[in-house]
Amino acid sequence: MLDTKKDFPLLKRKISGKDLVYLDSAATSQKPVQVIEAVKEYYENRNANVARSVHKLGEEATEAYENARKAVAKLINANSEKEIIFVRNATEAINLVAYSYFLPIAPSGGKIISTVMEHHSNIVPWQFINSHGMELEFLGIKKDFTLDTENLGRILSPETKLVTVTHASNVLGTVNDPKEISGMAHDNGSLVMLDAAQSVPHMQVDVQDTGCDFMAFSGHKMLGPTGTGILYAKEEHLESMEPFMYGGDMIKEVSLEGTTFNGIPWKFEAGTPNIAGAVGLHAAIDYLEKIGLEKIRRHEAELTEHALDEFSRLGGVEIYGPKNADKRGCVISFNVKGVHPHDVASLLDREGVAIRSGHACAQPLMKRLGVGAVARASGYLYNGKSDFDALVEGLKKVKRVFGV
Ligand SMILES: Cc1ncc(COP(=O)(O)O)c(C=O)c1O
Repeated sequence: MLDTKKDFPLLKRKISGKDLVYLDSAATSQKPVQVIEAVKEYYENRNANVARSVHKLGEEATEAYENARKAVAKLINANSEKEIIFVRNATEAINLVAYSYFLPIAPSGGKIISTVMEHHSNIVPWQFINSHGMELEFLGIKKDFTLDTENLGRILSPETKLVTVTHASNVLGTVNDPKEISGMAHDNGSLVMLDAAQSVPHMQVDVQDTGCDFMAFSGHKMLGPTGTGILYAKEEHLESMEPFMYGGDMIKEVSLEGTTFNGIPWKFEAGTPNIAGAVGLHAAIDYLEKIGLEKIRRHEAELTEHALDEFSRLGGVEIYGPKNADKRGCVISFNVKGVHPHDVASLLDREGVAIRSGHACAQPLMKRLGVGAVARASGYLYNGKSDFDALVEGLKKVKRVFGV
């Protein structure tokens, strides 16, 4: 098991007089001292705007920002750093593809396939495209909480322009097989978008191996600062796409008669970017790579196995997600029978245990599961088995208090 908690200053906090047990990393991760220091060092020594000033500071800020882009490209094995666009979060990355690639072609029809296990950010932008002329269809899930990929073969048609799927579910923990999905979609002539917000932080994701055309993920869920997100897109697509936003930094030349745009990736980064965020994200990637994403994946699989085991002994708790720790991430959604998940989360908070409760930005999935809300505990590289033991102890208390 990894032993990294010491690197995370916030995890030393006490909540309600108890040691904090942070089990809400699927929402956002905590930050190691290495990331916090990198941002501080940047502001203390190198802060300037990028790509504008010829002075030394401007050069250093630009170099730091572009080095962060190279680090992201290397992490996911992109062909080139030109394929990496810095945005604010995964949601913005998906919107960029929706607005820049699909909005212009939407009036001529076609179909997009998404799934019922998506986060709202991989549903709502496509509903927007649907309102401009493209059909939208959703692939279901099976009884074992895995994606119904058999049905994908049946619903793919010559009309399908895009298949957009989460790599790992933020509710079920299910890890989908992007290679299988890409293979089927590409054989059909459809593009593939991967929502990797819950996978890139936790496992080695190689965009070339997955075969996806577009991939969105959030820097803030992988130890980086908030306000950092990434769109990966194949160079050929970026070259053909319209800009998403217009203004400074994304131009080559402007006259009152018209504008020529900058090359990729800068064509998609209008205005001053989150330079300090990129610097922090670079430090986060260095941190993850130093430990190794394979090791992180194994650590989380062990945590998941332990947690599922402990949960099964509790009784009266329903879990929504695959049973096999190998096929899922460390995101465990559940309900204590007879207790509302908000009450579960509030009582746990008094024990210092932070979990999420609610619809987890996946209302269609809640409907499919037949529940209004869930409680969700999610672990990361800094959690140990003792964190899940504290959760289980807290749940025993919840059951006692509510007499269930
Ligand atoms: C699977 C998934 N996709 C997308 C998002 C959206 O991420 P962000 O809030 O960084 O845009 C989340 C956030 O929880 C998520 O879990």
